[in-house]
Amino acid sequence: MRLEGKVAVITGAGQGIGEAAALLMAEEGARVVVSDVNESTGESVAGRIRDAGGEATFVRADVSRLEDVKGLMAAAKDAFGRIDVMHNNAGVHETNFTGEAQSTELDEEIWDKVVAINLKGVWMCSKYAAPVMAEGGGGSIVNAASIGGMVGYPMGGAYGPSKAGVIQLSRVMAIELAPQGIRVNSYAPGNTDTPMVQKYYASGSPEEQDMVKQQLLGTHLIPRMPQPREVANLVLFLASDESSMCTGSNFVVDMGTTAWRGMRS
Ligand SMILES: NC(=O)c1ccc[n+]([C@@H]2O[C@H](COP(=O)([O-])OP(=O)(O)OC[C@H]3O[C@@H](n4cnc5c(N)ncnc54)[C@H](O)[C@@H]3O)[C@@H](O)[C@H]2O)c1
Repeated sequence: MRLEGKVAVITGAGQGIGEAAALLMAEEGARVVVSDVNESTGESVAGRIRDAGGEATFVRADVSRLEDVKGLMAAAKDAFGRIDVMHNNAGVHETNFTGEAQSTELDEEIWDKVVAINLKGVWMCSKYAAPVMAEGGGGSIVNAASIGGMVGYPMGGAYGPSKAGVIQLSRVMAIELAPQGIRVNSYAPGNTDTPMVQKYYASGSPEEQDMVKQQLLGTHLIPRMPQPREVANLVLFLASDESSMCTGSNFVVDMGTTAWRGMRS
């Protein structure tokens, strides 16, 4: 068991990569604080962990709200006495909120919301988890970035900069928290088969849906859509002591997308 005795807090854990990470960390012995802004999906993930014999509690928190973040860390401490792993997974894309996602069309309110969840949320959760982690002797903060924070994509004028910010914030906090035994890393997935990406091929004719899927897959050197569990495997490594040498780094997990400039026909 790679996380025996450890307590992990995971934001946005009601679905997608966060859900997969919560289930995997619980399988590896962690007591898990499943957090999400969505109460029903979050409760369901915590319930599945308990049904499988693990320990989990659900705490509703919007990571862009300071009071929610403080409440999340206090609830984690109340429930399990410590925090060893802070997985800052919660994230949104402007296309979650609008069809007008081009930077020149985007509403200010949506830009602010994406950055507040994706970047400020990571900073606030790290800020308030760190003292609890330090009390217990240290730990690992694992931050969801994206290859959208490393290379340019259209329709990502808020998402891309927010994820680039996560990569840089992780470096800065790695320096500041090293004396307290807290490692901080980010990871950058490419297209992964979660509701965030599934929405792109959820409507239209079967032919249109297939065309979108082929476009998404076209940049993958490994020509298939990865499952959230495959990203969670990297998160588990970064959360566990197996990554004891790693801090301040960004780990790409993208089926080879950023290794080339090509698109398979
Ligand atoms: N799926 C991909 O292809 C992909 C690629 C690169 C990076 N990522 C990143 O991985 C992370 C997870 O992505 P996913 O694909 O599983 O997304 P998803 O949309 O499937 O799930 C996101 C979860 O976050 C929760 N959430 C949204 N706003 C929140 C808030 N304000 N506070 C707390 N929780 C909130 C949602 O309720 C949901 O449960 C995100 O940070 C995303 O940007 C995903």
